[in-house]
Amino acid sequence: METATENRKRVLSFVQSSGTPTLGNYLGAFRNWAGMAAENDCIFGVADLHALTVRNAPADLRRRSIEMYAWLLALGLDPEKNIIFLQSHVPAHAQLAWILNCYTAFGEASRMTQFKDKSKQHADNVNVGLFTYPILMAADILLYNPDQVPVGDDQKQHLELARDIATRFNGIYGDVFKIPEPYIGKKGARVTSLTDPEKKMSKSDPNVKSFVSLTDTNDQIAKKIKSAVTDSEAAVYFDAEKKPGVSNLMTIYSCCTGRDFAAIEAEFAGKGYGDFKAAVADAVVAELEPLRTEYERIVGDKAYIAACAKTGAEKAARLAYRTLNKVMKKVGFYQV
Ligand code: TRP
Repeated sequence: METATENRKRVLSFVQSSGTPTLGNYLGAFRNWAGMAAENDCIFGVADLHALTVRNAPADLRRRSIEMYAWLLALGLDPEKNIIFLQSHVPAHAQLAWILNCYTAFGEASRMTQFKDKSKQHADNVNVGLFTYPILMAADILLYNPDQVPVGDDQKQHLELARDIATRFNGIYGDVFKIPEPYIGKKGARVTSLTDPEKKMSKSDPNVKSFVSLTDTNDQIAKKIKSAVTDSEAAVYFDAEKKPGVSNLMTIYSCCTGRDFAAIEAEFAGKGYGDFKAAVADAVVAELEPLRTEYERIVGDKAYIAACAKTGAEKAARLAYRTLNKVMKKVGFYQV
């Protein structure tokens, strides 16, 4: 089994290329990735095969994939030290996914709650790809024998399925796959919608005021934060249940300034939401502006992106095919 070198851990994660990431994606996951990448051997993929489960205009799919790749570079992930690539550039993902389909029970796949939710959301296009999506995700993971996989709460069930499939496969054929663990590290913040603070912040929300997009201008960011839903108490303290709006803004402020909730409560004691929101807006702008500038620089350099993606795909393929060949041999394909 090809695994990480020395005592560095191999960490793998993928991100869907379904649109410009939000402040929620950034504070919840991406921001931790750069730190994680400095300490581990990281593999980051843009899940463009997964993106096909919803209908896209071809030009949009291509543009979003390139943009998501540029965001990964803008975060400070190093394409030399880590493997950063697009899923569709390494055919082994689709190949292993097919094989794993045959080791996944229909009932087991039917239990995936995201499938149930998404098939309600996209009732006009409930394709089989949406159903087998978690099995492709299992292939993404198992091809690389990662030690840890950082995933959000919504992907925990899929990671669990990947573990079950791997355990089942190993039970039949011997030690082929490393059983992946969820990433245990600095947990990202859960950032909620600015207009409906009980829901997760989502880029697919039709109300654009509900999320801050990483490409929003400073002005747009400030407007959105200032119009965020709060409550009528006019007191800044953390209570996720009674004051979800204020608590969400406190989470955001805390992430951007490094201050804890007690310090924030002290800072705004006796002050109204106007002062508080203005401070949150400034902190978010200060956090996102340099990232956006870096992103714009990178996304304008298509030759650089292409070169990085090509190298990334080559490095990923080397690892992936080692695993796939082993799997193909184990299941009994005639190899010449
Ligand atoms: N399904 C994940 C998401 O929507 C993206 C993903 C695809 C992924 N393949 C993966 C995440 C492998 C971790 C590991 O967020």
